[in-house]
Amino acid sequence: MKINSSQKILIIGNGGREYAIGKAFSQDIRVDKIYFYPGNGGTLQLGENVSFKSDKELIDFILFHQINFVFIGPEIPLVQGMSDTLRKAGIKVFGVSKKAARLEGSKAFMKDFVSRFNIPTAKYLQTSDFTKAKEFITLLTPPIVLKADGLCAGKGVLILPTHKQALEELKNMLEGKSFGDAAKCVVIEEFLDGYELSVFAICDGEEYVLLPASQDHKRLLSGDRGPNTGGMGAYAPTPLCDEKMMKKIEDSIIKPTLKGMQEENVPFCGVLFAGIMVVKNNNILEPYLLEFNVRFGDPECEILLPLLKTSLLDICYGVMEHKLGLLKIELLNKYCVGVVVASKNYPYDSSEPSVIRIDDFNDILGHICFAGVSFKDGVLMATGGRVLICIGIGDDFEGARKNAYALVGKIQFDGMVYRDDIGFRALRNV
Ligand code: AMP
Ligand code: GLY
Repeated sequence: MKINSSQKILIIGNGGREYAIGKAFSQDIRVDKIYFYPGNGGTLQLGENVSFKSDKELIDFILFHQINFVFIGPEIPLVQGMSDTLRKAGIKVFGVSKKAARLEGSKAFMKDFVSRFNIPTAKYLQTSDFTKAKEFITLLTPPIVLKADGLCAGKGVLILPTHKQALEELKNMLEGKSFGDAAKCVVIEEFLDGYELSVFAICDGEEYVLLPASQDHKRLLSGDRGPNTGGMGAYAPTPLCDEKMMKKIEDSIIKPTLKGMQEENVPFCGVLFAGIMVVKNNNILEPYLLEFNVRFGDPECEILLPLLKTSLLDICYGVMEHKLGLLKIELLNKYCVGVVVASKNYPYDSSEPSVIRIDDFNDILGHICFAGVSFKDGVLMATGGRVLICIGIGDDFEGARKNAYALVGKIQFDGMVYRDDIGFRALRNV
């Protein structure tokens, strides 16, 4: 694979994930310029933030500036088909097609797909019919899982402790009261009890590479309390996924999915993110697929990219040119822990902007990925949501965790919220 120097890359998105992607590219000397659309106050350290009023403006900009390729970070543009639009205009894109993005964009599509290929997943019914839904709910033992079919920014899953509550919520969902049109069709599932893993496969349509298994922390507060969020911290590799478990996930979930997509003429070219629940059946641990996403996770991306020895640039070209098989992707023998620092009212509401103070952290092996921040007149402000993520790197899990929390100690802004137990399941294990 020949990759020219002076690469110009446009990254779509504005989160910590896109900051991390930009940071990974910026470490490659072949990368000359990085644009972010729209980016955030932190991505200004890495490149230039741009914004457009229409697809046409975006395409004209890419062609005029001779941008080598576009990296699409978040799910919404992928599900809406941005990669197809750009490819049609002759632009190289890292990001799955609209058809492949249905694995994330429609839970009903995803569940039907995985059942066609006998991929282990929770028993389910997808329907828009209240009576059918009610019948199925009555057959399940609570807690009962209800999912909106469409995208809901990670909020479309409800876990209800009783049949009565499940039926009430079902009615709200089908009537469009809780998630609008996204829940006009619902998926009802049996509850799986176990621990979760995030597994990423980078795929070029045929070949794929697996990244080390990671673990996210979805609840806002320490001890897995409080509401669900986009993710409050992650770490990798996790001792909760040994080689045997990874092989099971690969053989029973990743391989049949990629083969199935090929068979259905929707080759998967991008990042396949499998949300896995590991369940104990008769004393044997078995992986079940909870969800697919068609992109890097946030905050998983921030803790996985620092573990790559091979440049992300080579990986992207391997995928875009369907030549991943020619690349030997190497990892560093390190651990990475990321602790999200969010604003006061996250995930319910916006928060008052507040000035961020960061003390010198040269003595700590790690860095900060910026997300909900602005930068004006030399002042970095927390503007809401997940504000930043402190990344600690180490030779072992405990070292990485220590560095991540040492970094958190260098940060100050009004109302900051973070969990003090990121990686607790791993700590129990080591
Ligand atoms: P999803 O967006 O489908 O991954 O669901 C969000 C979160 O809900 C997951 O990360 C799990 O914590 C939980 N969840 C989803 N489906 C189930 C299930 N069938 N059993 C137990 N927990 C679930
Ligand atoms: N961290 C979970 C997600 O990105 O969906």
